[in-house]
Amino acid sequence: MTDRYAKITGWGKYVPERVLTNHDLAQMVDTSDEWITTRTGIKERRIRTEHDTNSSMSVAAAQQALEVAGITPKDLDLIIVATSSPDYLLPSVASQVQDMLGAECGAFSLVAGCSGWVYGMSVANQYIVSGVYDRILVVGVEIISFAMDFTDRTTCVLFGDAAAATVVEVSDEPGGMLSFELGSNGSGAMYLYVPDGGSTSPISQQTVDERRQYLRMNGPEVFKFAVRTLANSMKRTIYQAGLTPDDIDLFIPHQANARIIESAARQMRVPVDKFYMNLDRYGNTSAASVPLAMVEAIEEGRLKDGDLVAMCAFGAGLTWAAMVVQMGTGEISAAHSLFSVGRARYLARRTSDAVLDTAQSALLPLYSFLYQRRKKG
Ligand code: ACO
Repeated sequence: MTDRYAKITGWGKYVPERVLTNHDLAQMVDTSDEWITTRTGIKERRIRTEHDTNSSMSVAAAQQALEVAGITPKDLDLIIVATSSPDYLLPSVASQVQDMLGAECGAFSLVAGCSGWVYGMSVANQYIVSGVYDRILVVGVEIISFAMDFTDRTTCVLFGDAAAATVVEVSDEPGGMLSFELGSNGSGAMYLYVPDGGSTSPISQQTVDERRQYLRMNGPEVFKFAVRTLANSMKRTIYQAGLTPDDIDLFIPHQANARIIESAARQMRVPVDKFYMNLDRYGNTSAASVPLAMVEAIEEGRLKDGDLVAMCAFGAGLTWAAMVVQMGTGEISAAHSLFSVGRARYLARRTSDAVLDTAQSALLPLYSFLYQRRKKG
């Protein structure tokens, strides 16, 4: 059997027309454009209109992705939709997407919070490299505004609605998806969750009175988790691909907060302008965040054939997921060769990063203590 590689051959996005700015939010809750901008980097986000559903947004993004790939829905072997805000609890929104597209294949939804699309891409990769399927659609979509409490300033300023989709196809040319890391730490579940509406605690009048159908978040805990995870997971995934951070042309992190991204860039000793950001326009679109950023990076000419890109998402679960992808059909970087200069550089950088990581972990409690003391004082 010839080698099989899974490549991204199509991409598309859909964002609702309705824009909600920081100034609009300042009319709704006790916040300001200044606070939101300096604490998060977000200026505005999209909120679904009455025409937008999770399935309609998925289909709009998917149709673009299929067009770019030059294939029809009938060519698809599988559809994966990553989302935490489906049209209905049952059926899976993926089956609605399959029907609306006119595809004739299996379809399932996947829930991994904001990390869902990267999880979905890892599943697509496995089906393709193992020879089971040749063409898979992976959608990341969220109408997260439905779970927002627009009286809670600590959450409602952060999120927005969007969809993005990719077509993944088999190729016998090296490249495409090179490495993955999937992670979960369920002990942090209550840092980011929706209390009621599941089978443990169905919706009731009390739910509504106490606003327990809305997302609740311990922002500082999620922030600490995100800062720790983003840089470390990306680094491990890059090394797993036989590369170093210097080899990566563009980093596409989860678009939750500019301060989290800047901190990851510092930890990785990578210039922050190599980290793509569009969160100023969309906020955190959860499972749509990383693919939406990837689509816009392509549209803006920041990613081209052969480029190496590292992506990482984190979110409810708590979960995280990272992957390294070589776009298009370009040659694999020289860093893959065992005896190359790239390989030597990789080993040196990996060793120095390991030493720095240990030092950073040792200093984190001290930093946290000093920060809390300064806040109190
Ligand atoms: N406007 C004005 N003030 C606010 C706002 C707001 N929108 N929100 C909070 N504050 C206040 C707080 O009440 C607090 O006031 P206090 O000191 O009087 O108590 C003060 O600002 C500081 O609050 P912190 O929570 O310490 O602010 P911080 O700098 O940590 O920023 C933020 C909060 C932006 C939420 C940050 O913690 C964060 O980004 N966390 C990560 C969130 C995230 O990434 N979540 C998504 C995960 S993905 C998923 O799967 C859904």
